[in-house]
Amino acid sequence: MSEIKLKSIVKNFGGNSIAVDNLSEIFPDGEFVCLLGPSGCGKTTTLRMIAGLETPDSGEISYGEKIFFSSKNGEFIKTENRNLGLMFQSYALWPHMTVFKNIVFGLEMQKKSLDEKEKRYLELEKLFHLENFRDRYPSELSGGQQQRVALARMLAMKPNLLLLDEPLSNLDSNLRLEMRSELKRLHQSLGCTIIFVTHDQMEAMTLATSIAVMNKGKIEQIAKPMEIYNNPKSLFVAKFVGSPQMNIINSDKDENLALCLSKKLNIEKNKVKNFGARPESIKMVQQNNGDINAKIETIQPTGADWIVGLNVSGKSIFVISSEQPIGKENDTIGIDFKVEGCHSFDSNDLRIVKS
Ligand SMILES: Nc1ncnc2c1ncn2[C@@H]1O[C@H](COP(=O)(O)OP(=O)(O)OP(=O)(O)O)[C@@H](O)[C@H]1O
Ligand SMILES: [Mg+2]
Repeated sequence: MSEIKLKSIVKNFGGNSIAVDNLSEIFPDGEFVCLLGPSGCGKTTTLRMIAGLETPDSGEISYGEKIFFSSKNGEFIKTENRNLGLMFQSYALWPHMTVFKNIVFGLEMQKKSLDEKEKRYLELEKLFHLENFRDRYPSELSGGQQQRVALARMLAMKPNLLLLDEPLSNLDSNLRLEMRSELKRLHQSLGCTIIFVTHDQMEAMTLATSIAVMNKGKIEQIAKPMEIYNNPKSLFVAKFVGSPQMNIINSDKDENLALCLSKKLNIEKNKVKNFGARPESIKMVQQNNGDINAKIETIQPTGADWIVGLNVSGKSIFVISSEQPIGKENDTIGIDFKVEGCHSFDSNDLRIVKS
């Protein structure tokens, strides 16, 4: 199996915080892994170390049988010998080269024959719908077309492993959506392993077969997207995935609401530091008909649904409703919690799993 194995990887650039903190993880063959986390948590550094663009201080990185890096044995395989496809946020195409030249650039460097270059070009041209663009220069293409050329260029050498660092962040939302589907299709048809860095939780949820949530140089949880969403391991993961964010209710500060949730979840309040309730797991009902009453503060229609801001005994929370809210601003209503979307977290910010 050509899995990527990171063993006790440490990278410290100096300064107060460590960029990657003793990271050990296995990314299985053929997965579409999204490294997800806030700015500065070490995503790019991790990717660059897998690519060989950055050297870890210590640890080992292997890909299948091949050891890319080992601090113990002093091994280091250069980027160009790792058979990778790399794409970064600034995926700059060569401005003075046509689409054809850009795409076959790597093959040219490998001194491949004209026939081979032509054959591969035609395959990629079809895959990325680039017919008619062969002789154009990058400046004569739209952003999305440029991005497709960059993807084609990355795949020209048939890499087994694709490493992408926020490659879609320069695009407008429509193009992003289009490129996401393109990438997903690509992964399904090629079956290659993809590691994709993003800080956009929506992008990770929609693309990944596996999400690795990073926090301060460590992976907090790695699991399938819905597993991350439904069973977050920690408060950090719970808050990072989902929009609007999970409502966090503190046992001490938001006493009334915390008491209500402790009853609903059948757990002692003093065992819980924080409760969490997903906005879509809260249903608005008539006053006095729910678990607790709330006052409507704001109503934001998004088109597909409504985001409603509520005040419950002084605590502001958000609810997503697929139906028109039953009241208007300043009305008092009732709310009902669905147990599946509600969680409790202990004093170490870990989710309490009830047996
Ligand atoms: N070349 C460098 N020199 C010094 N510090 C660096 C260097 N590269 C990264 N760092 C630091 O290492 C930490 C991790 O950075 P990294 O670029 O991996 O974060 P990231 O998760 O990719 O963030 P973002 O989402 O903003 O791109 C940060 O604190 C950053 O300041
Ligand atoms: Mg980064």
